[in-house]
Amino acid sequence: MATGWEPDRISENEIADGEAYHRALYINGDIERPANWHRESADRLVKLAIPHIKDGSLVVDYGSGTGGSAIELLKEVENRGMEINLVLIDPLVSWFSKARDLLKGRQNVHFELSIKKDDSSKLSFRRLENMLGGRKADVIISSSTMHLIPERAIRDLASQFAGSLKENGVFIWDSGDLESEFRPAHSALLHDPYRAVREILRNDENRARRLSEMSSEEVLQHEGRLDRIFPGPYSIDVILDALSAVGFSSETHDEVVGFSNDDAERFALVPRLSEVAAPLLLGEERDEAIRGALKVALAEIAEQGKGSKSEYRSHWVYGVHRLE
Ligand SMILES: C[S@@+](CC[C@H](N)C(=O)[O-])C[C@H]1O[C@@H](n2cnc3c(N)ncnc32)[C@H](O)[C@@H]1O
Repeated sequence: MATGWEPDRISENEIADGEAYHRALYINGDIERPANWHRESADRLVKLAIPHIKDGSLVVDYGSGTGGSAIELLKEVENRGMEINLVLIDPLVSWFSKARDLLKGRQNVHFELSIKKDDSSKLSFRRLENMLGGRKADVIISSSTMHLIPERAIRDLASQFAGSLKENGVFIWDSGDLESEFRPAHSALLHDPYRAVREILRNDENRARRLSEMSSEEVLQHEGRLDRIFPGPYSIDVILDALSAVGFSSETHDEVVGFSNDDAERFALVPRLSEVAAPLLLGEERDEAIRGALKVALAEIAEQGKGSKSEYRSHWVYGVHRLE
């Protein structure tokens, strides 16, 4: 049985949110049927990680979400007849409890919730060194998470990774939402369509009507929170510089991955992500607005030559970093 964090009194809405993100990664929730974008992007990450993993390795998945990256890694580890100790780490209860549910029957899988509340209910991130309880990892992977770490926190996170790896340990990550000089002109960033949805709906009439029922202070807070769901992308150099500053070497790779319109709609309608249309009401009101805005956003991306009628092309970057 898996060990560590377990959800405590999780609500129906949280369960639905985790299920929806899982289904954005896996068709009908079947882990044998990853959506094309998830299969292709994770496949490259797994291929980069596998040569660094041995039987008995301690592997950390930083930002595990509903378990999509861990599941793809475990498939390949098992194909090769290896056993690893895997620590999954994430701050989001709704998605992480889905990962717990999917992997609860496994030996050697451990869960750490990366957020804690202090006595005055203030939330903060737990340090990786503490979550590992003094153990050092052979490999840390992080899939589709680094672009969500605020730029100002990257330096400190890089030093947590350095402090949590064994000598010769390796940090391997991917992201579809970082700017780079080498992004081909025929590709977009992963979150471009969803940032466009947010912009299209920013001045939507129905949303404006609901916002007008809030105080101006509430509106400011609310809109700030929505802008952080798909934050503006920063450069891959921010991450490479931070890793280099704490002693990591860097090797980078990239890949263009097709993201079908149907997969994009499933992704955009995950409750946690469809919040970009709040305060439109959760359910049909919100979903209808998102579907409409997404069609417009995807058509614009296709017109810019970064997609076709049926998909947009997302540009993924990969980093492999060894402690020198
Ligand atoms: C897109 S999901 C990726 C999940 C999984 N690795 C996969 O490939 O399917 C990104 C995860 O990063 C987590 N996350 C968001 N902000 C974070 C932060 N500041 N620090 C650590 N994790 C964060 C989220 O809770 C979310 O589960």
